[in-house]
Amino acid sequence: MKFIDTHTHLFSTQFLDDAEAVIERALAQEVGQFYLPNVDKNSIERMYYLADKYPNQCIPMIGLHPCSVKEDYKEQLAIIEKELEGERIFAGIGEMGLDYHWDLTFKKEQLDALRIQIEWAKKYEIPVILHTRESFDDTFSVISELNHERLTGVFHCFTGSLEDAEKVMSLGGFYMGIGGVVTFKNAGVDKTVAQIPLEHLVLETDSPYLAPTPHRGSRNESMHIPLIAQKIADAKGISLDEVAKVTTQNARQLFKSFANASKIVS
Ligand code: NI
Repeated sequence: MKFIDTHTHLFSTQFLDDAEAVIERALAQEVGQFYLPNVDKNSIERMYYLADKYPNQCIPMIGLHPCSVKEDYKEQLAIIEKELEGERIFAGIGEMGLDYHWDLTFKKEQLDALRIQIEWAKKYEIPVILHTRESFDDTFSVISELNHERLTGVFHCFTGSLEDAEKVMSLGGFYMGIGGVVTFKNAGVDKTVAQIPLEHLVLETDSPYLAPTPHRGSRNESMHIPLIAQKIADAKGISLDEVAKVTTQNARQLFKSFANASKIVS
């Protein structure tokens, strides 16, 4: 094995018919493990189905996505907290964070849900999976305020500036998740990534969203992780193997308790 997809919504309805084939295709590309960030109460069941069917490959994480923070968010958080208190072990809390792109109606509630979930991460000593769409500054200030030596996590789908990256690195224990956007022409993420030490990066697809070039616009799959890794290698002028090795080490460090879950990930 080589690669880990640290962020895929494999439980989404877009994979309902062929998740097994998607996993097989990814394994064939040496993508050996898939971390599944929950979205809301409706995605939990399918996520558990995959986690139980592929215990060494599909690793569940539990949380409430900011786009699902509505009037009923307290009720949703209560459902998620109950799961956390149960028997099942989760690799992280997420997907959580702030999304200012689509709708600002529940901004206050999004901030509240973020704070609550960060405290859970501290309590259970597992990383936070942060969604920061058009909200990096607010997310960063909440994390800085609540930061703790036991708090770790990933700024998922990182597309910020070098200055933002330096802020993330200053927190200690936080990584930046790099996905398909790094391959998009004009996005400029590759130029920033070129300047961020590899030790702070993990790979992700965020599938079914954000398929890398040349698949942009179609359904994304974990099998495309090597395309993302290759773009990072090109941007930094290093080998694909080096990107694979270091980002996999980083993912294992981040998700410590699951590092040895898979025999494929060696
Ligand atoms: Ni996501």
